[in-house]
Amino acid sequence: MTINIEEMATFCRKKGFVFPNSEIYGGLSGFFDFGPLGVEVNNKIKQTWWKRFVQDRDDIVGIDGSIVSSQKIWQASGHVDSFSDVLIECKKCHSRQRADHLLEEQHNLNVEGKSLDYFNAIVKEKGLKCPKCQSEEFGECSQFNLMFKTFVGPKEDEESVAYLRGETAQIIFTNFKNVLDTTRVKLPFGIAQIGKAFRNEISPREFLFRVREFEQMEIEFFTHPGKADDCPYIKDFLKVEMNVFTAENQENNQEQQKMSVADLLKLNINKWQAYWLVQEYLWFTEDLGINPENLRVREHTKDELAFYAKACFDLDYNFPMGWKEIYGNADRGKFDLTQHQEHSGKKMEYFDEETQEKVVPVVASEPSQGVERAFLSLMFDSYHDDKERGNVVLKLPPKVSPFFCVVLPLVKNKENITQKAKEVYQQIKTCYSCYYDQAASVGRRYARADEIGVNYCITVDFDTLEDDCVTIRDRDSTKQERIKISELNNKLFSLYFS
Ligand code: GLY
Repeated sequence: MTINIEEMATFCRKKGFVFPNSEIYGGLSGFFDFGPLGVEVNNKIKQTWWKRFVQDRDDIVGIDGSIVSSQKIWQASGHVDSFSDVLIECKKCHSRQRADHLLEEQHNLNVEGKSLDYFNAIVKEKGLKCPKCQSEEFGECSQFNLMFKTFVGPKEDEESVAYLRGETAQIIFTNFKNVLDTTRVKLPFGIAQIGKAFRNEISPREFLFRVREFEQMEIEFFTHPGKADDCPYIKDFLKVEMNVFTAENQENNQEQQKMSVADLLKLNINKWQAYWLVQEYLWFTEDLGINPENLRVREHTKDELAFYAKACFDLDYNFPMGWKEIYGNADRGKFDLTQHQEHSGKKMEYFDEETQEKVVPVVASEPSQGVERAFLSLMFDSYHDDKERGNVVLKLPPKVSPFFCVVLPLVKNKENITQKAKEVYQQIKTCYSCYYDQAASVGRRYARADEIGVNYCITVDFDTLEDDCVTIRDRDSTKQERIKISELNNKLFSLYFS
């Protein structure tokens, strides 16, 4: 990893991956737009996730819910009352900051989950400096709710208040009965969803890492209340080793350690939760090609558990700004379905044919992650500043690179060459993500392709007109292989899956 987060933002902007939102009007903090390359990568991230966790499985179904929803959902879920961060205001310049971020940055303190009284006492004891004006005078800390409020219909009164969803999860819970009644799912099963979520962050920062609008990929995995440990698949993963930072390590200032899944199970984790943690870890390492040494499992300490969670384990990525969460997995227990049952008056029961009883299922595991954070970790992991080549090489795996290949005529001013190259392009573009590029020298075009992560460059040259062959250049090794055009599609197929 060779660049910091600001440099990555500049790289993504310059190459057309990500643009600041509302840029021509000075920007809107915490919002970003994905450009022509970014949207390709993001769509592929989502496709691989959906394929692995929904289409390839028999125990998960998907939904795609509405972004705006009734305030009653968010009252029942606890978000209206409890989904907040601690805010502190500078008395001099009146800038507002997240108190936990300032305490972490200026005193290296982890204060997640602490009470308001604790925050006020620690700020008084340690003191803080305003990052904007350097003043050391602050007002009292207060809770700041993160939900985005809106009004539905022509009136702006209490009745018409609605919320942009703060997590996609609630739309899964509120559709639990609909899914049960319209499909043949049997416990244990999951409901998956990919979609936008919104949080009115006090101080968005670190490029895509902390934003106000983002996209989640979530699964709520339901089991019978007494069967959160009945996971028949966990035995196949007991030997998988991961870096693990336990709550005990954190409380005793110890280093993270390598741990097998068998040992992980000795912590406060149920077997379905451990199973899903490993499945997402394998998605990161196998589908996104993330280096396992840049990933670690982090157990939440008791103080920081979300209000709905019994146990929570994150996957952190080793960013240039430190280890940061890119995925969370909570045991939400019976919290959500019982809340919605009580608040809506509608039963959230499942009839268990084995025991002939009605039960309210529990969420033994909630694998949850943001697409933007997956994108960001992928970009850092793939970024190589190749000094010998004199350009950046973005080593994205085929499943998530913006384009798998590019077709290049060796020269642009010989019509028989460009014509042949366009024919080759037509032949492969129906099967593979591909573009055609004839501008600039071939060396410059190789460099351009390397920088945006294109896996293979296919060049049509003068010999092609004689032997009907093209060269395939491998992005990572730069090795070139000559191959018959009639065999090209099969060759690309084996390269894609190799
Ligand atoms: N559903 C978990 C989260 O949004 O963090």
